[in-house]
Amino acid sequence: MKKTAKAFANIAFIKYWGKTDPKTRVPRNNSISMNLSDTYTITTAEFDSKLKGDDIAFIGENVVREKERNRVVNALSKIRREMKTKLFAKVRTKNNFPKATGIASSASGFASLAVAAFGALDYQLKEKELSIFCRTLSGTACRSVPSGFVEWTKGDNADNSYAYTLFPANYWDICDVIAIVTTKMKKVSSTDGHALADTSPLYETRLQGMDEKIRKIKIAMKSKNFTLFGNILETEALNMHAICLTSTPPVLYWQPTTIEIMQKIIQWRENSEVESFFTIDAGPTVHVICQGKDARILKQRLSKIKGVEKVTINKPTIGAHLINNHLF
Ligand code: PMV
Repeated sequence: MKKTAKAFANIAFIKYWGKTDPKTRVPRNNSISMNLSDTYTITTAEFDSKLKGDDIAFIGENVVREKERNRVVNALSKIRREMKTKLFAKVRTKNNFPKATGIASSASGFASLAVAAFGALDYQLKEKELSIFCRTLSGTACRSVPSGFVEWTKGDNADNSYAYTLFPANYWDICDVIAIVTTKMKKVSSTDGHALADTSPLYETRLQGMDEKIRKIKIAMKSKNFTLFGNILETEALNMHAICLTSTPPVLYWQPTTIEIMQKIIQWRENSEVESFFTIDAGPTVHVICQGKDARILKQRLSKIKGVEKVTINKPTIGAHLINNHLF
């Protein structure tokens, strides 16, 4: 049986940075994110007794590292163990955005792979179990499983660290206007970045403040206080990058255009032209968070900045799910 799934990438307002256990990907702190309507992966999977090995292709990608292919094979092996089958799979997967540039491609990639592969074996996990399973494939993938605005609780062991919906997708009309500044893959993967977090002298202080930060941003979200919400998420992004910059060796994910955009966002806000806030994941891409009414004007402004390659508007959206349009 062939099944196809669609999963959206997500943007973290409070970031996951550092793992308690690199193997099971239990994080050091809770994180909060939103699924992104215009940034997704579609994956089709089919298990077939005629196959002598997994047959995997990344549609539209010029560069596929051996490591990436191995991660997909490992994910399929985990699914095989879970489902007690020895069958190999044909998998085709396609992103509608450049991977490894600071948009969570592993989140949408692994969430769509899990939903398609379990579906192809005629098995449907409950949302919590699916989120836990996806976390073991790629941490942020667990947040692409539930709908809308999501919290990933760190839990205290591998069986109770999962993501769930805080508010549905239609709860709040805010947008992530994504400004891609390069389509080249970053040099330091987030897996390597996570592993370095502990080497930063600032990391313990960051961790001590996380519960309070989570509490405050939830209050801002509950009351839809956009200014408070924006200030918290922007400060949080800088805090995460402060850890990267002070790790040994240091990790600098930004490009000159990244900084140019950050300065513009602050300037437009200070001049009361348009109120928006930036956040940045492990890459040079800038995610500009704004109210729905300001998304188009921000897209126009960001598109004019030299070095910006592409701008997309993303609304909050639903979680990973099966669709009928197969890739083969
Ligand atoms: O799932 P990973 O290993 O790609 O983690 C990336 C974490 C950040 O994107 C930098 C922050 C986050 O919470 O999404």
